[in-house]
Amino acid sequence: MDTEPLLRARGLLKSFGGVVAVNLVDFDIFPGEILALIGPNGAGKTTIFNLVSGTHRPDRGMVLFDGRDTTHLRPSQVAALGVVRTFQNLQIFQNMTALENVMVGCHLQGKAGFLATALRLPGTAAEETHMRNEAMKYLELVGLADQAHLPATSLPFGQQRMVEFARTLAVRPQLLLLDEPAAGLTRVEAEELDRLICRIREQGITVFLVEHDMNLVMGIADRIIVMQYGAKIAEGTPAEVQSNAAVIQAYLGAEWQEERQPSDSIMEVENA
Ligand SMILES: Nc1ncnc2c1ncn2[C@@H]1O[C@H](COP(=O)(O)OP(=O)(O)OP(=O)(O)O)[C@@H](O)[C@H]1O
Ligand SMILES: [Mg+2]
Repeated sequence: MDTEPLLRARGLLKSFGGVVAVNLVDFDIFPGEILALIGPNGAGKTTIFNLVSGTHRPDRGMVLFDGRDTTHLRPSQVAALGVVRTFQNLQIFQNMTALENVMVGCHLQGKAGFLATALRLPGTAAEETHMRNEAMKYLELVGLADQAHLPATSLPFGQQRMVEFARTLAVRPQLLLLDEPAAGLTRVEAEELDRLICRIREQGITVFLVEHDMNLVMGIADRIIVMQYGAKIAEGTPAEVQSNAAVIQAYLGAEWQEERQPSDSIMEVENA
C-alpha cells in the first residue's frame, strides 16, 4: 500500500513470567481499513490490543499512532488521541440506563484523563441536552433508541454489547479496536454487527478487529494478521490467509484443508 500507515507497531515484545505473550511482532494499520487479528486461544491477540491501547507497556518495541510515539502513554491519553477499544469481557456500567452508558462515552471524548474530566466545569443545561442528543444518535445507529431509558443491565446480552459499542463510538475513535465483539451474539446479531462495522468504516473510522467468528472475519476484513504462540505467522487478504499452508496447519485445521487445496498463492511470512 502506498498510503502512510495510521499505526505502526515495531518489534513488540511482552512477557508475563515465563510466557512470551507477544514475541517481536511488527505490523501496520492503514487508514480506513478493516484489519482482523486472528489466532488460537492464547496466541497473544488481546495482549497486542493491550499494547496498542496503552493498557500494558511492551518490554521492547514501539507503537506509533499518526506519527506520534504512543508506546508509553496511558490508556486515557491514547484514547484522547483517537485509539479507543472494547474489552473481551463486556463492560457495562451498572445502575445506568442504556443512554447514560453512552453519555459516558460522550464525556470521555477528547479528554486526556480523569484530571481533565474532574476539572471540567459543571455543564450547562444546553451542553447536557447536546450530549443526550449525541448519545441518542449512537443508540439509534445500533438500533437501540427504543431501549434508551431502560437499565442497561436489564437488556439481553447482545443488546448490552451494542450499548457498549455505541459508548465506544461516542468517544469518536479514529482507530477502533474490537476484541471479540461477536462473542456470545446470536447469528442474527452477529450479522447486524457485521453491517454495523461496515457502516462505521464508511464513516472513516479504521477498525482493528480480534474475532473468532470466521464468517464475520472473512466477510469484512480487508487484511488479516494471523498469530500463533505470540508470533505473527501470516498476513494478507482473506483469500491469501485462507490458502496459507502455515495458517491451515496452525489454526484453521482440517475443515478448510478439505475444502481448499493449498494453492500456489501461499504467502511467505515477512520477517518470520
Ligand atoms: N495479565 C497477564 N498475566 C499473565 N499472563 C497473561 C496476561 N495476559 C495474557 N497472558 C498470557 O499471555 C498469553 C497470550 O494471552 P492473550 O490474552 O493475549 O491471548 P488471546 O490471543 O487474546 O487469547 P483468547 O483468544 O483466548 O482471547 C497467554 O498465555 C496468556 O495466559
Ligand atoms: Mg483475547
